[in-house]
Amino acid sequence: LALSAGVAAAQSYPTRNVTVVVPFSAGGPTDTVTRLVAEAMSRDLGQQIVVENVGGAGGTLGAARVAKADPDGYTLLLHHIGMATSATLYRKLPYEPLNAFEYVGLVTDVPMVIVSKPNWEPTDLKSLIEYVKANKDTVTYANAGIGAASHLCGMLFMSAIETEVTTVPYKGTGPALTDLMGGQVDFMCDQTTNTTNQIKSGKIKAYATTTKERLDNLPDVPTAAEQGLADFQVGIWHGLYAPKGTPKEVIDRLSASLQKALKDENVVKQFASLGTAPSTQEEATPAALKEKLESEIKRWEPVIKAAGQYAD
Ligand code: MLT
Repeated sequence: LALSAGVAAAQSYPTRNVTVVVPFSAGGPTDTVTRLVAEAMSRDLGQQIVVENVGGAGGTLGAARVAKADPDGYTLLLHHIGMATSATLYRKLPYEPLNAFEYVGLVTDVPMVIVSKPNWEPTDLKSLIEYVKANKDTVTYANAGIGAASHLCGMLFMSAIETEVTTVPYKGTGPALTDLMGGQVDFMCDQTTNTTNQIKSGKIKAYATTTKERLDNLPDVPTAAEQGLADFQVGIWHGLYAPKGTPKEVIDRLSASLQKALKDENVVKQFASLGTAPSTQEEATPAALKEKLESEIKRWEPVIKAAGQYAD
């Protein structure tokens, strides 16, 4: 009887508001992606999706909150590559990334840009590297905590140029960007979903993209590879998760809704203006996200170990 009641509940899902936890601050890149997709999914599901920002500890606090939530489809998590990197970066996590969640699907893969405060001396990536090396005791790098995309990119950059600088952690790169525009920190590497508009309006300086080719939405910004850092490429994939044990019928409903949202005209248009694109229909599936997380944990483990970066 309990089982059939559960199936019936799953079939009528959702009957009330759904919460999606964003494990970073409001107004930042994960928040921006989530709100655009949530708006389209809300229309399809016929219920409001409420975004809750649970920032801190590089995304691990928000992920922990969803890992502990009731597995009924009313609390979800939209997280990015940090789900994979934090598995190695943290000696202890209050959840097991590979066992605490059901997978709904991949959402998008966002490029990054190395950006600085508006009046910073370096004029291109080469002079930025020289400047950072010459001023390593005073230069500051903003990130959203250990496990954030901005942390990963900074770690890769500092190991590529063999120079460590002081990092300033925020609960998300939304507030970090505000400080960057105000000149309180020197530079960061952040997703185009957070930086495009400020680059275009000249409120921050852009030095390099982390992509193979230049981006359509920022054609004047050269790639890092063009400027001597041949292998400096990183894309920030995002996935939608639910707590372990969420009924399959609910996951299937959410997956179908995610696939529909990713074809939504407004989502496609807004993503393009922010330098990204929705995941394909095949990627927006539980199997594709599961495979991505598993392979990405394996991919980043040796890189993180080599960089020797850990958190407790
Ligand atoms: C955010 O939403 O604030 C970012 O995704 C933070 C980051 O991972 O760098």
